[in-house]
Amino acid sequence: MRTYWKFSAAEQILFGQNTARQLGDELKLLGVCSAFIVTDSNLVKAGVVDVVRASLSAAQIAVSIFEGGAPEPSTDIVSNAVEAARRDWPNVAPDSLAIIGVGGGSNIDVAKVTAAVLTHGGTPFDYFGEDRVPGRTMTIVAVPTTAGTGSETTSVAVIEDVNKKMKLAVSSNYLLPRLAIVDPMLTLSCPAKVTAESGMDALTHAVEAYTIVEHFALPIPPDLRVAFPGKNPLSDTHAAKAIQLIGANLRAAVYQPHNVPAREAMSLAALMAGMAFANSGLAAVHALQYPVGALTHTSHGLGNALLLPAVCDYLLPAQTREFAEIAAWLGEKTDGISDRDAAMWGIEAIRQLKADIGIPNGLRDIGVSESDIPAMAQSTVRYQRLIRCSPRPLNAEAFEWILRKAM
Ligand SMILES: NC(=O)c1ccc[n+]([C@@H]2O[C@H](COP(=O)([O-])OP(=O)(O)OC[C@H]3O[C@@H](n4cnc5c(N)ncnc54)[C@H](O)[C@@H]3O)[C@@H](O)[C@H]2O)c1
Ligand SMILES: [Fe+2]
Repeated sequence: MRTYWKFSAAEQILFGQNTARQLGDELKLLGVCSAFIVTDSNLVKAGVVDVVRASLSAAQIAVSIFEGGAPEPSTDIVSNAVEAARRDWPNVAPDSLAIIGVGGGSNIDVAKVTAAVLTHGGTPFDYFGEDRVPGRTMTIVAVPTTAGTGSETTSVAVIEDVNKKMKLAVSSNYLLPRLAIVDPMLTLSCPAKVTAESGMDALTHAVEAYTIVEHFALPIPPDLRVAFPGKNPLSDTHAAKAIQLIGANLRAAVYQPHNVPAREAMSLAALMAGMAFANSGLAAVHALQYPVGALTHTSHGLGNALLLPAVCDYLLPAQTREFAEIAAWLGEKTDGISDRDAAMWGIEAIRQLKADIGIPNGLRDIGVSESDIPAMAQSTVRYQRLIRCSPRPLNAEAFEWILRKAM
């Protein structure tokens, strides 16, 4: 049995209401004099970018803004951001420039890959896969405005490869943000649909992180140079807390957008779920979301939300105790009943939460038809990085079963 594991997170995390106002001072401490903000027009309109810019200006940090970000971003968007940064900062010393992602996971991911390309050259395509970034990058700063992806504390960026027409991950510890400022006040303007879908993404991160295999059950080479090495005690602790926070606060965050305690709890949950999955791994839901997203052009969070209950049904026999614990964390009464009954209530609680926040019923509602299932199941087998962590073996047949259940 292996008894070692590794835990990585953003180098510094500043959490709390109005902490975005401290961004400039924090960057000064890091020796940054110039900042390139990667964001999108919604966040400009919502006034979020003004908060960030004001803080930088007060600290006399020169700023330029790229507002060409978009949901589920592509390599084209990264290339546009790189071009804009080179145009805005032709002579600046790389050490004194920070690349700041302001937005949801989409803009933060673009900021990460932009920093890699600006520092090491080449194109975004050169960095897809594990450990392809050759060294430290310019200072990456993440300022999340959704409570979902956890990208502010992960070493991953998910970008659509426009040539292959599929989303791929860039995975490297050099992409871990040097600073994450998690200010729940920036999420108050987040639309209900994005709040619901990204909140379900965070729940999926926590549930997958908690229910995947134990770290010692995986045949990993001793140097641990594997992005997803299986769960460990720290990822479990973060996942458990995230599930409790989401169960208690996601509904309020969706229906009462200005409920600050609920928003704050969700920002913390997303951060903790990110810390969990970035160190343990993800499994079937995230693997299946790739073909679902590619076919339906729906958001990452929505695809995950529709798949999560069916994947839980599939995993229940392999992780009954874990799902019983999840039931209790989601507020179900589990005293005096069997683990199996509790586990079933836990999965039912996930289905109910999803329905309560207005997520559609199943994959059919987003345009998937029965005839799509065999090809989608077949194509998911390629995501070995994700599949290898599953506590119950996955193959094309298993994926077909899950997809049919999720219809
Ligand atoms: N890097 C990682 O570790 C990781 C993990 C999970 C998902 N992802 C990726 O993250 C992306 C999804 O990110 P997301 O769910 O955070 O959504 P998002 O970044 O795609 O944002 C969705 C929409 O909401 C708007 N928006 C966001 N915050 C807002 C606010 N406060 N006010 C007004 N509008 C706001 C954005 O402008 C955008 O139009 C996907 O590409 C997914 O693959 C990355
Ligand atoms: Fe996710």
